[in-house]
Amino acid sequence: MSKAGPQNASRLGIIGWPVSHSRSPLIHNYWLETIKHEAGPIGEWPQTYERCPIDPADDFAVALDKMAAEGFIGANVTRPHKENAFAAMDALDDAAAALGAVNTISFVDGQRIGRNTDGGGFIAGLDEATGAAAKTHKWRDNPVLVLGAGGAARAIIVALAREGVPKIKLVNRTKARAEALEGLSDKIIIGDWDKRAALAQECHLLVNTTSLGMTGASPLDMDLQHLADGALVSDIVYAPLETDLLARARRDGFVPVDGLGMLLHQAALAFEVWTGVLPPVSDALRQKLVADLTG
Ligand code: ATR
Repeated sequence: MSKAGPQNASRLGIIGWPVSHSRSPLIHNYWLETIKHEAGPIGEWPQTYERCPIDPADDFAVALDKMAAEGFIGANVTRPHKENAFAAMDALDDAAAALGAVNTISFVDGQRIGRNTDGGGFIAGLDEATGAAAKTHKWRDNPVLVLGAGGAARAIIVALAREGVPKIKLVNRTKARAEALEGLSDKIIIGDWDKRAALAQECHLLVNTTSLGMTGASPLDMDLQHLADGALVSDIVYAPLETDLLARARRDGFVPVDGLGMLLHQAALAFEVWTGVLPPVSDALRQKLVADLTG
């Protein structure tokens, strides 16, 4: 089957299974509509961003070909398909190659191009939270403590290493899963889950990538007293928006960074791949998303 997309292709979407709860359509359709409206008619501008369920029992590459033939110029990828997407690409960016996972596909001249914007989105979310001080904030020059060893932790570790942090302290309840990530960067030092509070010493950034704190899960049990003054405390969870960890961070004078930043900025970077326009992550969009999440 040809991998070439048709002329005048104009669709985008999010591939997953299930994909009904994804907020990506809300985010991308907001940009497609508002930016088109502000810029006036734009040739080749994508018209829709749709939900694209792909059953894991189906052949993933065949499903991609079908999308390209039906007018898709690209798609995001979420659970459980990021590794399937990686395996089905003709070319990869550095982040996707390092992670073995793709979250952004483009169909270009019959080729499937895979990228991963998750880590870049995480860093952009931190930069947004630190504002004018973003590029000189102390988290960049000091050890970072990362909790968890799943897919999100992988993307964040690779991005942190790329930003030049001197040391990434990594702890996970199941130590072997953390050890399996050691090859991602020579900055990684594996610690014990039980020592996580003490390991926060000297850290100006704590990142929780575990599911602890999510709606329905127990909160993260961790004393923050060893963290450096003014440290960023980032939780990639966004349901609830303010986890117990972020509430305690705020109360103790740290800078809480919620999971919406990473969600919005990984989307913005993907949108730029497809359209050439890096869309604004505005308060209006954030409020729309919050209303949807809490409504
Ligand atoms: P991701 O969504 O990033 O891909 P995942 O693979 O679902 O993540 O992993 C969830 C993370 O939360 C893991 O690091 C997991 O620890 P284990 O590897 O030991 O399972 C962590 N996690 C989940 N429940 C936890 C708990 N009760 N205590 C500590 N860590 C927990």
